[in-house]
Amino acid sequence: MTDTRKSPQGEWSSHFAFILAATGSAVGLGNIWKFPYITGENGGGAFVLVYLLCVVLIGAPIMIAETLMGRRGRHNPITTMETLTAEAHADPHWHYLGWMGISAGILILSYYSVIAGWASGYVLKAFTGSFFGADAPAIKQQFADFIGSPIQLAFWHTAFMLATMWIVKQGIHNGLEKALRWLMPSLFVLLILLVGYAMTTPGYFQGLHFLFNLDFSKLTGGSVLTAMGQAFFSLGLGMGAVMVYGAYLPKKVSITETVVIVSLADTVVALLAGIIIFPIVFSNGLPVNSGPGLIFETLPIAFGSMTGGWLFGIMFFVMLVLAALSSSVALIEPAVAWLVEARGFSREKAALWAGLLTWLLGFASIFSFNSWAGFKLFGHNLFELLDYVTANLMLPIGGFAIAIFAGWMMTADHSEAELDLPKPQYQIWQLLIKYLAPAGVFFVFLHVVGVL
Ligand code: PHE
Repeated sequence: MTDTRKSPQGEWSSHFAFILAATGSAVGLGNIWKFPYITGENGGGAFVLVYLLCVVLIGAPIMIAETLMGRRGRHNPITTMETLTAEAHADPHWHYLGWMGISAGILILSYYSVIAGWASGYVLKAFTGSFFGADAPAIKQQFADFIGSPIQLAFWHTAFMLATMWIVKQGIHNGLEKALRWLMPSLFVLLILLVGYAMTTPGYFQGLHFLFNLDFSKLTGGSVLTAMGQAFFSLGLGMGAVMVYGAYLPKKVSITETVVIVSLADTVVALLAGIIIFPIVFSNGLPVNSGPGLIFETLPIAFGSMTGGWLFGIMFFVMLVLAALSSSVALIEPAVAWLVEARGFSREKAALWAGLLTWLLGFASIFSFNSWAGFKLFGHNLFELLDYVTANLMLPIGGFAIAIFAGWMMTADHSEAELDLPKPQYQIWQLLIKYLAPAGVFFVFLHVVGVL
C-alpha cells in the first residue's frame, strides 16, 4: 500500500542527494556557533561526553525513527502523523506532534536567522578588512557595536530570510541539491585548514584539554539537559524537518546507513569547530564562557593576524552563512509543506507567508541584544528563552513522542519493512527506540526538575 503513496512534492534525485540535504540540514550554526559556546559555558570535556552519548544513544535511533515515519507517511508532519495514526489505529491526537514540530521550526528559525544575520554581517566586515591587526579587546568592541545596532541586525536578518524564502520557493530539491554538492566538502576542507592554524597557536593544548578533559564536577542537571537539547538541535531532530526530508526519500535507500553518515558528519564538524575555537580563546586569554558571541569574538582575531587571513575570513563567514541557509530551509520546510499539501497554497505563497511570520518573530531576538536587553523573564532575555524552550524542551519532547510512536504504536511489520535491516540489527534499533531513547529523555527531564 505504501508503495503507491507518493510525496506530492517529488523525491530526491539520488541517495547522495538525500545525504547531502540531510547533512545540510544538520550541519549549521548549531555546530559552529552554538556547540563551542555552550561547551564553554558548561565546563568543557564532561559536557562534550554527555553530548556524544546523547547523539549515539538517543539522537541516532530517533533520527532513524523520524526518517522512516516520514518516508512511510510521505507528507508534511501533520498529514504524515494523520496517515500513520490511521494505519496504526492509534489515537488521532498524535497529529499534534506534527503541529508542535511545525511551530518549533518557525520559532527556531526566528532566532536562527538573526544569528545567521550576524554571520552575514561578518562577511562584509571580513571583506572590508575590519579585523586586520585588531587585538582581542578591539574585536570584542566591534562585536558589541554590531549587536548593539538593531538596524544592522534587522537588515541582515531580513536579507537572510529573503534568501531562505527564495530557495524554499524553488522547491528544495532544485537549487539546494546543486549548491550542497560543493558546499559541504569545501566547508570541511576550510575547517581542516583552520585546525592547522589553531595548532600553531600557543593555547592549542590548553584548548584540547578543555574540550576533552573529563571534569565531572562541572556538570550540573542543567548542563545535561543542554547537552541533550544540543544533540536534538544539531541533528535537526524532533520537529519534523527529518520527517519531511524522509518524505522525499526514494524507497530503496537504506535509512540506517544514511543516518550513520549524517550524524557522524555532524559530530565531526562540531568537534572541529571546538578544536579551532578553544585554542584561540586560550591563546588570547579570553573567557571561555562569553556566550553567543564566542565565535565572533575569537575567530576574527585569528583572521586579523594570520597569513592569508583576509581570504580565510571571507571564506569562513560565507560558508557559515551557506551552511546556515541549508539548515534554515529545513526549519521552514515542514510549515511550507503543510501549507502546500493541506491548505492548497502554491509553494511561492507558502514560502512567503511562513517566511513573513518568521521574519516578524525574529524582531524579538533582535531587540534582546540591544533595546530590550534589560527585559527578562525567569532571568533570561527573549532570545535565550526562545532558544531554551525550543532546543531544550520542544525538540526533546518531540523526539520522545517520535520514539514512542515508532517503537510502540507502529506495527513492527511496518517499521521493519521501511528499515529493511538484518534481524539482529533491527532488534538493536527496537531496543533503543522502545526503551533506551525515551528513558534517556525522561531521566534527563527528571534530573532537571530535581527528582533524580
Ligand atoms: N541542525 C541545525 C544546526 O545545527 C539546526 C536545525 C535544527 C535544523 C532543527 C533543522 C531542524 O544548525
